[in-house]
Amino acid sequence: MDEMQIYQTIGEDGFNRLVAAFYRRVKTDDLLGKMYPPNDFENAEQRLRLFLIQRFGGPTTYSNERGHPRLRMRHAPFDVDVLARNRWIKLMTEAMTEAEIPAEIAMILKPYFENTATFMINR
Ligand code: HEM
Repeated sequence: MDEMQIYQTIGEDGFNRLVAAFYRRVKTDDLLGKMYPPNDFENAEQRLRLFLIQRFGGPTTYSNERGHPRLRMRHAPFDVDVLARNRWIKLMTEAMTEAEIPAEIAMILKPYFENTATFMINR
């Protein structure tokens, strides 16, 4: 499967389930929980959801609202070390399982998340 077909395959609902399952874990996580804005979890969830939808073949609402992603720059204020990177991946992997992302899609998303998360390391 081409990565740009992921949106049409799992739909908005698939990304909603994935990001909701991820943020549910982030909120109570001892390492990542305190990095995210405590009173802005809903908007943070929305930003990740719209980014992923755009990245994998869906509408470009993310860039219409936020401009160019510039993800590494946007992460510069946060202490992303290897421990934070590994925790992010752990929670996202659990979220993919909970959201029942089909195996042929998970095998594309997993290395994408791993590579992007490595690229975010800034400490
Ligand atoms: C490596 C570990 C990571 C950590 C600790 C981390 C942490 C954060 C934090 C604290 C925010 C601010 C929340 C907000 O207000 O939106 C954020 C934003 C964001 N992150 Fe990450 N992140 C990580 C990896 C990733 C990865 C791998 C992706 C993409 C696959 C990603 C995509 C985003 C997006 C799209 C935003 C919102 C950017 C914006 O429009 O402002 N992050 N991240």
